[in-house]
Amino acid sequence: MKIFAIFGNPIKHSKSPIIHKLFANQLNIIQQYKKIYVPIDKFNNIINNFFKNGGYGANITIPFKKKAYNICDFLTDRGIKSGVVNTLKIIKNNKILGDNTDGIGLLKDLQKIKFIHKNSNILLLGAGGAAKGIIYSIINFGCKITIVNRTYKNSYNLLKFFNNKKNISIIKIEDIDNIINNKKINYDLIINATSSSIKGEVPKISSKIIHSNIFCYDLFYSINITPFLEWCLYHGAKKISDGIGMLIEQAAYSFFLWHGVMPNTELILKQFKKKYFF
Ligand SMILES: NC(=O)c1ccc[n+]([C@@H]2O[C@H](COP(=O)([O-])OP(=O)(O)OC[C@H]3O[C@@H](n4cnc5c(N)ncnc54)[C@H](OP(=O)(O)O)[C@@H]3O)[C@@H](O)[C@H]2O)c1
Repeated sequence: MKIFAIFGNPIKHSKSPIIHKLFANQLNIIQQYKKIYVPIDKFNNIINNFFKNGGYGANITIPFKKKAYNICDFLTDRGIKSGVVNTLKIIKNNKILGDNTDGIGLLKDLQKIKFIHKNSNILLLGAGGAAKGIIYSIINFGCKITIVNRTYKNSYNLLKFFNNKKNISIIKIEDIDNIINNKKINYDLIINATSSSIKGEVPKISSKIIHSNIFCYDLFYSINITPFLEWCLYHGAKKISDGIGMLIEQAAYSFFLWHGVMPNTELILKQFKKKYFF
């Protein structure tokens, strides 16, 4: 039986074991998938022991995606382009292959719910690990991204990582009002990739970014509406979604890397919501 686990800190809240169990049941695959809590300074030891003791694949979550990238012997193209990985797999000679499935998972969900098209003008809130992991897939699809983050330096570092590609720009959070007023920019889609919703907060940003035709997507998900999406509705948005769809899609791409088969994610999303959210 192949053994898998998700590594993170915190990890209690993770729904990945449930999702991978649903995938395995759907495709008649026998596997074990557990949660592993990792003290901040112990990531390398714990992950290396896991693979030495027969672990076959791993998912990596906050705050270890960069550390996971650094221990990889090989990377997929998505892994290289993102600079952070959320999926590991043991390959020949006990080497570790790293992939990033967050970006493709988000893109797949945005396409399914029709929140994105090739020319979408996107405002991305946040410049942490999740933002870094999704940018490549989104600009590769053809969209334009403007990053705005609480700490400007972190968005600047992100821009540098992506080599100032022409489809990416950054703005200061305090300049957004002027930019919208003077340049008459209308964003088509806002993606909240900050972790503010975890603490019940909303990023401090001008509500002028919201208009009635904008799509609003929060990477965070919960049983109740997220604080960010509630704020969007309050300021006039009509089309909102949280990140459950992305969670399932990114997991499906990890599953594919490990088993070579793709689960039917629409069915899993329905089962997951029915069993765990209602
Ligand atoms: N649905 C999914 O499948 C999925 C996948 C991955 C991640 N996520 C979610 O994505 C979110 C971000 O994760 P991450 O790994 O990128 O975390 P991270 O690396 O810790 O980055 C956090 C980001 O949020 C910003 N931030 C935190 N608190 C804020 C606040 N109160 N106001 C404004 N900005 C704030 C930080 O800004 P500074 O730079 O100023 O600190 C930083 O840009 C989390 O909610 C996570 O659950 C969802």
